[in-house]
Amino acid sequence: MTSPSASSAPAPLLEVQGVSLAYGPIVAVRDVSIAVPAGSVVAIVGANGAGKTTLLKAICGLLPLSGGSIRLDGADISTLAAHKRVGCGIALSPEGRQVFPDQTVADNLELGAYWRNLSQKDLDAAVEEQFAIFPRLKERRNQPSVTLSGGEQQMLAIGRALMAAPRLLLLDEPSLGLAPLIIKDIFKAIVRLRDSGMTILLVEQMANLALAVADTAYVLENGRVTMTGTGQELLRDPKVRAAYLGAGH
Ligand SMILES: Nc1ncnc2c1ncn2[C@@H]1O[C@H](COP(=O)(O)OP(=O)(O)O)[C@@H](O)[C@H]1O
Ligand SMILES: [Mg+2]
Repeated sequence: MTSPSASSAPAPLLEVQGVSLAYGPIVAVRDVSIAVPAGSVVAIVGANGAGKTTLLKAICGLLPLSGGSIRLDGADISTLAAHKRVGCGIALSPEGRQVFPDQTVADNLELGAYWRNLSQKDLDAAVEEQFAIFPRLKERRNQPSVTLSGGEQQMLAIGRALMAAPRLLLLDEPSLGLAPLIIKDIFKAIVRLRDSGMTILLVEQMANLALAVADTAYVLENGRVTMTGTGQELLRDPKVRAAYLGAGH
């Protein structure tokens, strides 16, 4: 039977429900709930130490939950091993890039597709897709990654995550430590990914940048969500402006 109102919204691609996380006795994240609808960019902003990286690690399966649940497309993945979550379509570009320094750019990218078991031809095609997004990587394809600038390493970290063909791309502090012009390039690439339909969960200390590209955003303070709204709403909010967008931000 079809209902004329057909108003039931589809489940979000990612649903974090009441999640708490601890390092031994230290509780880093408390009762956090966030939803990431397919095709949207969701930002989590907050100061250093707020729990942003901890939350992303938990979504990837790198930290066990001490409470709550994580669902992908409605299926509970709370206890799924990290490598299986990659197979389910979750890929992380980690804070601090963490590219393999002695490996070339091309090798780092290929490692991102490890689980896909592609033929060499398909692997080459996937690498070329990343070069189309980040042309600077193509010029450096045979250089060891340690020789790249910070901005190029960030592009490589994002490219490596994209090589996993994710349905959900997690970006942890893509602007960290980079010069303003390079940050602009990185965010242009994020906008292009958004426009191509990629679902992105973006963690940033640079709240102005993240909120400007986000459909929805959450403010995380001391491990708790304290505010949520559209990116534009939070950009205009006096409390957010005072705490995260004032002088020095
Ligand atoms: N490996 C760890 N062991 C103990 N405490 C940690 C560890 N990693 C992070 N923390 C603590 O958890 C809290 C949240 O850290 P983190 O998630 O890295 O914050 P953010 O990414 O927002 O800067 C901080 O108080 C931090 O000191
Ligand atoms: Mg962090």
